Amino acid sequence: MDETVKKKVMLSGIKPTGDLTLGSYLGAIRNWKERAEQYDCYYFMADLHALTTRNDPALLRRRTLEQLAQYLACGLDPEKNTLFLQSHVPAHAELGWVLNCYTMFGELSRMTQFKDKAAKNADNINGGLFTYPALMAADILLYQPDYVPVGEDQKQHVELTRDVAQRFNNLYGETFKIPEPFIPKVGARIMDLLDPVSKMSKSDEVGNGRVCIMDKPEDILRKFKRAVTDSETGRCVYYDPEKKPGVANLMQIYSACTGKSFPEIEAEFDGKGYGVFKPAVGEAVVETLRPIREEAERIIRDKAYLEKIYRDGAERASYVAARTLRKVYKKVGLVQK
Ligand code: TRP
Repeated sequence: MDETVKKKVMLSGIKPTGDLTLGSYLGAIRNWKERAEQYDCYYFMADLHALTTRNDPALLRRRTLEQLAQYLACGLDPEKNTLFLQSHVPAHAELGWVLNCYTMFGELSRMTQFKDKAAKNADNINGGLFTYPALMAADILLYQPDYVPVGEDQKQHVELTRDVAQRFNNLYGETFKIPEPFIPKVGARIMDLLDPVSKMSKSDEVGNGRVCIMDKPEDILRKFKRAVTDSETGRCVYYDPEKKPGVANLMQIYSACTGKSFPEIEAEFDGKGYGVFKPAVGEAVVETLRPIREEAERIIRDKAYLEKIYRDGAERASYVAARTLRKVYKKVGLVQK
């Protein structure tokens, strides 16, 4: 690539509320390795977002670092990507406040994630939970990214970010680049093993329907043996996400782990039934995750290494973020220091 051509910018964040799942690995993080060649990538642990629901402080701290270690283990190169913690770059909270003042009550009220979370946390519907899409807009717009890779569930927030950015630009002149949501196609939606019409959630408490990258092999195998399929006679393995969502999901997972196409998988398990298919998917997942889990365990013990990575990352991120924030403060009429 011609070094004089500026790479397009990509940015994404993940809330450190639990271990990374097989779903986020296959659906997202796995593809982030190659991205670094083509794009200038920023990834951060959205620890400020985590405060919108109640957490045990020690647990939040631990999970934030574990999650960073897991990302590194998934192959994200800290030299080629900017990896940092949201709270280490104060510009997020600062621009978040400003954008709160340019995000409408009506817009925030329409956010489906807010409605879901408010229903689930009826005793703690706090202001942060409501306004957090404005903070997310700040997370994004600070870095002037071209693309924001997110799951389906976050698309609405990226669309809101675009509206807020456009509104600001209309009022004050060109300030923010309007980012595009970027939804990876292959393996994007890995579903819950026990409820294959719902996405494999990382905050699901029960855990038998979801596989985490840190799960032990025996737990992974057990979860796949218990995965929900269907009661079709013949117990045939073929791809029909409408009629056979459980089998379709297992085929997705198997395909993502082995690189085999759906016709190849159908041929491989022709006449074999679910009793052979399910453990085979489990084995493929165990082998895919084994090196990642081992590497994450090694990194989490190396505190000095982790610290160096998040400090360097915050320094690089702060430099870029501060430039945008300065521009915004000036445009809205705050006195410059
Ligand atoms: N809101 C996202 C989630 O719940 C995480 C997130 C925070 C994010 N800030 C972001 C994602 C900025 C993309 C860009 O998963």
